[in-house]
Amino acid sequence: MAETAGHVQAYGKSRPQAGVSLEMDDQQFAKWTHLLESRIGLFIAPERRSFLASGIRSRMRVTGCRKFTEYYRCLSSGSSQAKEWSLLIDCLTVHETCFFRHESSMSLVEEVVLPAAFEQDQGFHVWSVGCATGEEAYSLAMLVDACCSRQPGDQYFGVTGTDISLPSLHHARAGTYLNRRFRDIREDFQHEYCQKVTNSRFQIKAGLRKRVCFSQLKLQDVKNAPFANLNLIYCQNLLIYYEHQRRLQIVNQLAEFLRPGGVLILGPGELLDWKHPDMEKVRYEDTLAYRHAD
Ligand SMILES: C[S@@+](CC[C@H](N)C(=O)[O-])C[C@H]1O[C@@H](n2cnc3c(N)ncnc32)[C@H](O)[C@@H]1O
Repeated sequence: MAETAGHVQAYGKSRPQAGVSLEMDDQQFAKWTHLLESRIGLFIAPERRSFLASGIRSRMRVTGCRKFTEYYRCLSSGSSQAKEWSLLIDCLTVHETCFFRHESSMSLVEEVVLPAAFEQDQGFHVWSVGCATGEEAYSLAMLVDACCSRQPGDQYFGVTGTDISLPSLHHARAGTYLNRRFRDIREDFQHEYCQKVTNSRFQIKAGLRKRVCFSQLKLQDVKNAPFANLNLIYCQNLLIYYEHQRRLQIVNQLAEFLRPGGVLILGPGELLDWKHPDMEKVRYEDTLAYRHAD
């Protein structure tokens, strides 16, 4: 999947500056990765140096900084830089996503996770970690709502999407998407949960939007997330940006938020050799999922 420079175009026009040499040397790379990790928990692997440099350069062009050191000073100069931090984060994170992105994982939710949970007649609470612009959270909400509507009586469910990127969360809350995204949603769900709002866009209907909330949460703060007893945690295409030890640390923390029988779904291949005393692997083709012991 191609990396993009996030939403930078939407937040300022970037023009190349003549005569500025902007190669990032080892020392600069070490300084920047340290700053990003310590301030916001964003890990940039060595092989992504050019991605880091180009993200920073795009903000430098907008802010008029001519050197990495000048922009570094500008960012480090106190809390008044919150907006610039937010825009930089947006350039340095990849927000590629779509509805029902990983078919097998979504089938696992629909065919295994939901039926098992509703056998026990309980509400259903989902966390989409690293939700980007919301497509994943709404896809899960569609599956859960459809399952609820087949159950007798009133069923409660809620989906929370979290991400570090404020512009992405803003987009997610609006729940409005370009028409080309429509084809990723199956036909019965298109009718039930989506409405055309302009010639080029559709929106998730209000009934479903009110079941889904979005909030900023950085991975480094996961252990303090205000959740408990979740039925499902869905975390895909986020761990891939972190090194192995950090991935283990994150999934160990995520496991703490599950209720007995709750399921953690990762992207296939995103984690090797994870062992946790309370978590057992779920066998379902082309997925990577773990169930919290009852
Ligand atoms: C590639 S998207 C994945 C979206 C969705 N989960 C999917 O699979 O389609 C990765 C998301 O993780 C978010 N992210 C990256 N680093 C993060 C961090 N340290 N804390 C929270 N979110 C982060 C990015 O902002 C981005 O929206």
